[in-house]
This record gives sequence, C-alpha cells and structure tokens, in this order.
Amino acid sequence: MRTRTREPQTLAEAGALDRLARILAARNIDPAALTASNESVPYSPLDALVAGMPPRYRGAAADHPQVLAWCREVAAQAIAPGTGARRQVATGPSLLMAGVVGAGKTHQAYGAVRALVGAGVGVRWRATTAADLYAELRPRAGVDSERNLTAVARVPLLILDDLGAAKASEWVEEITYRLVNRRYNQCLPTLITSNLAISALRAHVGDRVASRLAQMTTRVEFAPVDRRRTRTAA
Ligand SMILES: Nc1ncnc2c1ncn2[C@@H]1O[C@H](COP(=O)(O)OP(=O)(O)O)[C@@H](O)[C@H]1O
Ligand SMILES: [Mg+2]
Repeated sequence: MRTRTREPQTLAEAGALDRLARILAARNIDPAALTASNESVPYSPLDALVAGMPPRYRGAAADHPQVLAWCREVAAQAIAPGTGARRQVATGPSLLMAGVVGAGKTHQAYGAVRALVGAGVGVRWRATTAADLYAELRPRAGVDSERNLTAVARVPLLILDDLGAAKASEWVEEITYRLVNRRYNQCLPTLITSNLAISALRAHVGDRVASRLAQMTTRVEFAPVDRRRTRTAA
C-alpha cells in the first residue's frame, strides 16, 4: 500500500526550521523573542543579542577600562569563517572580575558581550552562574552531563558568574578544574566573576584551577561599593 508522502517543499521547510532553531539555540536566542517583531522591524545582531539576555542586564554597557581593553583584544583575535563572513570570537584572554556583592561585575560581563557585538563581532556565548552550572552537571539519570560539560567548555565566550559562591566539595573542585583546564588549553575567552579574595578563591577551587586562572586571566578589581544598596538609598 502506498502511503501519502509529504511534499518535498514542506520537508525542505521543516529542515530549514530545524536548522534555524539550532542556530538560535546555539546563540542563546529565544525563538519566541524573534517571532514577535521579525515581520516589519529590521532585526540587527544587537537586537538579537539583547533578546537573549536577562532583562536586568539588557541595557548593560561596559565602561571599566580593563573590560574595554579586553573587548578590543578579543575583537582583534576574531576570525571570519569565510571570505565576506562576519568575524567570530575565536581565542583571547580572560578576565577575573573580583569585588564585593553588588559592585557591578555581572553588569560589566554582559556589557562586554554587547560591546563585542556592537563592534561587529559575532559571538556565540553562554552565561551561567557557577552554582547553576554545577546543578546542571550533577550526574543524574537521563542526562548526559559529560556532553553538557563539553558544550560549556567549548562555547567561544563563557560568562562564569559568581565562581566560589557555591558550597565547596571535591566534586565541585574537579568539575571546575575540568572546565577551566579545557578553556585554558583552547585559549577560549572566559569572563569570570567572584566576590572572593584571591586566597579564598584558591582555597575554594584548588591549586590547579588557581594556577591556570593566574595565567589566563587579568584581574579586574571593583571598588567596594554595593550598587544595589546605594541605589535603594538614593
Ligand atoms: N555601571 C553601571 N551603571 C548602572 N548600573 C549598574 C552599573 N553596574 C552595575 N549596575 C547595577 O547595579 C546592580 C548590581 O550590579 P551587578 O553587576 O549585578 O553586581 P555584582 O555582579 O557585582 O554583584 C545591578 O542592578 C546593576 O544593574
Ligand atoms: Mg553578579
């Protein structure tokens, strides 16, 4: 018996939609955020980027001199995958942004991604707090945590927020080592924030991680001001 097959065109469309969905997912873009406005308004890479950011940091602009210097360095190392293609983040230095809670570290990290896109550089990126990442990577039934670790280790630009804030354990130290070591070996730019002093961070993540961070990151110190409280008081 001959069953009715789908029109070739329909199949082609389905394939294209699947590809689009994969591209959007890889770029941290929520497809729902696109459908709302893609009919009439031109959708720039910056619009697409902002749609994938948490609302609190959508307007974040990097203004710290060391963060801006990092953006220039990463942009300078960006590579076009083909002639005429947009240059993409490839390799680059990393930052360890250290300061008290509310100092503006996460703001600068998102602002840095925005600055790169604003400079015309394509960025496949991902942002996670260290605590969320550990939760995601905990071995559990039905989840390929090794695959998830590989994905985070390979993403061209990673924001690793609040390193050292999760409860320390041998497992946390091991996962942090495996992540940092892979990004260290591949020279992949990573924006790390922490509210720990360097000695406390070393105790938390272990010597192997601390040693790699010392070499791969520039340390950015933030003024000890909690912007959340000063804004409330104002
Ligand atoms: N340069 C800035 N300009 C305006 N608002 C800022 C700036 N830096 C931080 N903020 C705001 O101050 C608050 C704390 O900043 P955040 O980056 O979350 O701090 P941290 O990550 O250091 O704890 C947030 O509401 C953020 O939007
Ligand atoms: Mg933060």
